[in-house]
Amino acid sequence: MTDQELAALAVSSMERAYCPYSRFPVGAALECASGAVYTGCNVESAAYGSTICAERTALVKAVSEGERSFVRLAVAGQSEDCCWPCGACRQMLYEFAPQLRVLAVRRDGSYEEAALDGLLPHGFGAAHLGK
Ligand code: THU
Repeated sequence: MTDQELAALAVSSMERAYCPYSRFPVGAALECASGAVYTGCNVESAAYGSTICAERTALVKAVSEGERSFVRLAVAGQSEDCCWPCGACRQMLYEFAPQLRVLAVRRDGSYEEAALDGLLPHGFGAAHLGK
């Protein structure tokens, strides 16, 4: 799958977002080392803090299916600027893939790329716990 195709998958995943409170749909597409791709969208709750972001939806779907190794993530939002993963998502993704390639997609479908360890410098990981 090309970067462009992964970005397009993130954009189409926005359609399934459940976001009655923020009205800000987000979509994600996460590529595993196995080649499988898991999509996700944000799912909000009336108890706002229980909301889960699109990236973490995709990640927990993948891990719950037995995936542990990830290579690329595309995340799409509806803002003019690139939709970069929030801090909580960066931390969760770092757990599994510090070197993950992240494509942050704009409303118009264009995107920018960064490595996760550049987005979360000096990230906290299993090694800090001696694991
Ligand atoms: N959101 C995501 O899905 N991913 C991010 O990385 C940033 C924020 C969602 C959460 C909430 O449903 C909405 O965007 C507004 O914050």
